[in-house]
Amino acid sequence: MRTPLIAGNWKMNGSLAANAALMAGVLGDAAAVKAELAVCVPAPYLAQAQSVLSGSRVRWGAQDVSAHENGAFTGEVSAAMLLEFGCSCVIVGHSERRSYHAENDQQVAQKARRALLSGLTPIVCVGETLHEREQGATDAVVTRQLTPVLDAIGSQLASIVIAYEPVWAIGTGKTATPEMAQQVHARIRAMLIERDAVQAQQVRLLYGGSMKPDNAKDLLAMPDIDGGLIGGASLNASDFLVIAHAV
Ligand code: 13P
Repeated sequence: MRTPLIAGNWKMNGSLAANAALMAGVLGDAAAVKAELAVCVPAPYLAQAQSVLSGSRVRWGAQDVSAHENGAFTGEVSAAMLLEFGCSCVIVGHSERRSYHAENDQQVAQKARRALLSGLTPIVCVGETLHEREQGATDAVVTRQLTPVLDAIGSQLASIVIAYEPVWAIGTGKTATPEMAQQVHARIRAMLIERDAVQAQQVRLLYGGSMKPDNAKDLLAMPDIDGGLIGGASLNASDFLVIAHAV
């Protein structure tokens, strides 16, 4: 049985004051939520998240991690640093990192591996562009993105989380229908089963891309949608909680 996970991706939003209000709002009702809850915050706010969320049932994490252990990598943040600030998870391979920072599938795989080696749960993002969907290439793209990750993590399959985020649905208000999302999630599950049938059933597959209070319930009702990676709606405590309660 997989415990659903509702994770917020704040992206490059927030301020000390805004974060304090947002986290207080989420904590106000977090205890009543059945799903596991997490927020992935900008790196400078990890200390704030640690201080506010420690001891609560809301976990926190980062939005990226270096594939390297340490050294001359200006601007990068290591997994060990994230751990010092109490992170339990980190997003890797978000489409915004892939498109604006030219991260490729191999780099994403190395980041996922580095996170796992350090004891962080990588939330590995995959998903196709609109053009790729229109070409009928969705399965091929997701397979291409995920294969190096699965190769890199070896026997630790059960320790990762995968987020299917169709690029055309991110921040656009266009959501994949529950059936469209389920179809891709089932394909991902099948890929996992090929690697390890037992661990494959433990991996949480999140949907991300304009998940909102009004569509969360139908998406989360699908057999292979085990939670959500929420962008815009995670910046509003009550929207985030409505989505979490839809599990
Ligand atoms: P939106 O929910 O704003 O579409 O963002 C989804 C996302 O990119 C989460 O990582």
